[in-house]
Amino acid sequence: MTNNMFFIANWKMFGDLKSVNSIKKVINLSKTKKYKKAQIIYCPPYTLIDKILRITKNTKIKVGAQNCHYSQSDGPYTGSIHSDLIKSIGAKYVIIGHSENRVLGDTNQIINLKIKSALKKKLKIIFCIGETLKEKRKKKTNLILKSQIYGALKNIKKNNNIIFAYEPVWSIGTGIIPKMENLEKQVIIIKKLIINFWKLKNPKIIYGGSVNPKNIAELKKIRSINGFLIGGASRNSKNFIDIIKKTIN
Ligand code: 13P
Repeated sequence: MTNNMFFIANWKMFGDLKSVNSIKKVINLSKTKKYKKAQIIYCPPYTLIDKILRITKNTKIKVGAQNCHYSQSDGPYTGSIHSDLIKSIGAKYVIIGHSENRVLGDTNQIINLKIKSALKKKLKIIFCIGETLKEKRKKKTNLILKSQIYGALKNIKKNNNIIFAYEPVWSIGTGIIPKMENLEKQVIIIKKLIINFWKLKNPKIIYGGSVNPKNIAELKKIRSINGFLIGGASRNSKNFIDIIKKTIN
C-alpha cells in the first residue's frame, strides 16, 4: 500500500450542477500533506466536465470522461464525443470498456479502436475488464479476462498510459465483493496476462465494484493493487473521503 494510490470517481449518469459543490471538501483533503500524493480523478457525465475542471483548477485532482467514440475526428455520430473533443476541454483521462457500455455493444474490437484513438490524443485510459456472474460460474473468468486484454491491446505498442481496472460485473452496484484470497489471485493473474502480452514491468491495476467505506479496510490489504474505481460511493463526498482516508492511514 502506497500513498500515491488512485481514487477514481465514476459518477456514471448521475449529477447536476449543484452536486459539483460537494467536491470542494475533497479538494481540501487533496491539499493536506498526508493525502497530497493520492491520485484523485473525477469522471462525471460529459455535462459536468467543464464545471469540475474549473473548480479543480490549480489542484492535483484530474478529470476524465466516462467513454469516447472510436473515431479520431469529427463525424456524423449523433450523441457521441471523440477523444479529441475530450482532450480539447482539458480532461486528461477517459474510461474505456466499462461493462455498462460493453452490454450496449462495445466489443473488444471497438474497445481496441477507442483505446487507439484516446492514446493518439494523449489521453490516459482507465480500461475496464471483468467477468459476468455466468462466466464466473462456468469458470471462464481467466479466459474472458485474457480475451478482453488481448483484444483491446491488439496492435498497440506497450505504454504506461493505461490503468487496468478489474471490475467483476457481478460486483458492480450489488454490494458484493470478491473473497479477498480470490481477488488477490485474480489481480496476480491479470498482471501476468498484461506482462506476457506487453512485457510491461509494472502495469497499474485498480479494483472496482461496490467499494465503500465499510469494505475498504479489507480491500486495501490486497497487495499489488494501485487503487480503486468507485461508483456509487464516490458521489457522496463524505463516503469518498472516508475511502481515501481509510486507505492511506
Ligand atoms: P459501484 O461502486 O457503484 O459498484 O460501481 C463500480 C463501477 O462500475 C465503477 O466503474
